[in-house]
Amino acid sequence: MAEGNFTVTPWEVKGKVDYDKLIVQFGTQKITPELKEEIRRAVGGELHVMLRRDIFFSHRDLDLVLKDWMTGKGFFLYTGRAPSLGMHVGHMIPFLFTSWLQRQFKVNVYIEITDDEKFMRNQDYTLEQTRQWAYDNILDIIAAGFDPDRTFIFQDTEYIRNMYPIAVKIAKKLTFSEVRATFGLDVSSNIGIIFYPALQIAPTMFEKRRCLIPAGIDQDPYWRLQRDIAESLGYYKAAQIHSKFMPPLTGPEGKMSSSIPESAIYLVDDPKTVERKVMKYAFSGGQPTIELQRKLGANLEIDVPYQWLYYFFEEDDSEIKRIEAEYGSGKMLTGEIKQILVERINKFLEVHRQRREEAKDLVKVFKYEGKLASQMWEKIHE
Ligand code: TYM
Repeated sequence: MAEGNFTVTPWEVKGKVDYDKLIVQFGTQKITPELKEEIRRAVGGELHVMLRRDIFFSHRDLDLVLKDWMTGKGFFLYTGRAPSLGMHVGHMIPFLFTSWLQRQFKVNVYIEITDDEKFMRNQDYTLEQTRQWAYDNILDIIAAGFDPDRTFIFQDTEYIRNMYPIAVKIAKKLTFSEVRATFGLDVSSNIGIIFYPALQIAPTMFEKRRCLIPAGIDQDPYWRLQRDIAESLGYYKAAQIHSKFMPPLTGPEGKMSSSIPESAIYLVDDPKTVERKVMKYAFSGGQPTIELQRKLGANLEIDVPYQWLYYFFEEDDSEIKRIEAEYGSGKMLTGEIKQILVERINKFLEVHRQRREEAKDLVKVFKYEGKLASQMWEKIHE
């Protein structure tokens, strides 16, 4: 791939992503310092680390969402996951952030688990597998800390009856040629995957209020289609807040991916595995010898341990500044920053494991029995 080239689609992220260019390409808005200040005022406290550090960097209509909230109209949150065998730490980004938004604004959250999408998109997977993974991934998602009364987690193959009326209305508004162009399908694509966008769009119409979607920016094509048709069906154009991608362990390009084991730390990796993977695979921007590192310092732009600390594992701003200064100047060595990363990842995973265990008793609550969940099973979306 030529220098400066990159690709971002819902199925692949390649190259070194230029996020400013992506904003222009996708026609979204940058999250400005002024908008951040507005959010800070609305929540009445410190911003989430992923906003402070511009991990969530782009949006559509976030200003209108805040206005709706201020004027008492309110809004709701929607995000989702195509289940796979084992979530990695990057997958937690939208869920941790969404649960923070829920705590701040006390709003409903809808989480779509697309066991159908995963099955239809991949020749090798059976439906039994993707449904099993759905259960497994839901445990990780619950561990992000959602409010059981205000959160509904639903699996497409189960909730379809209630979604179908709104999905057919959406489907009737979308032509094959639009969907084909948006997702790069062709006439050999199976017909399920051609219809599928209607199901990912449907939850944006679960309430008559504005929907805000926190997700990686790879999911944006769905929202562009949604915004073309929502008003003609009597709903709001969905608002979004987009995140960058946590890079793979193996280098600063592309995104961490479940299907490349050495590129990812899975949420079930034990402390020894974490240490082995980081020591062996983490791509370093440090210099090849200690002498050179002491003299020149590390290139933080390409250093994955630094970026992982920045994205996720070191929330303390003064600590990240210290690491930046010491590693960037050569006072800190590659082995040392990797050790810090191993320790931080294991600390995160230890807490996560505990919460994941506790989540086993809550699956039914989030899917069927909680306050919002039981209301949703009563409701047919027209
Ligand atoms: P999926 O399962 O590919 O991804 C789930 C969420 O994780 C984000 N993500 C990442 N974020 C940061 N760094 C990474 N390395 C990384 N890899 C994945 C994705 O952007 C996404 O937010 N079709 C969807 C499922 C879906 C959905 C939704 C997602 C249904 N409805 C509404 C978001 C919002 C999918 O395949 O996601």
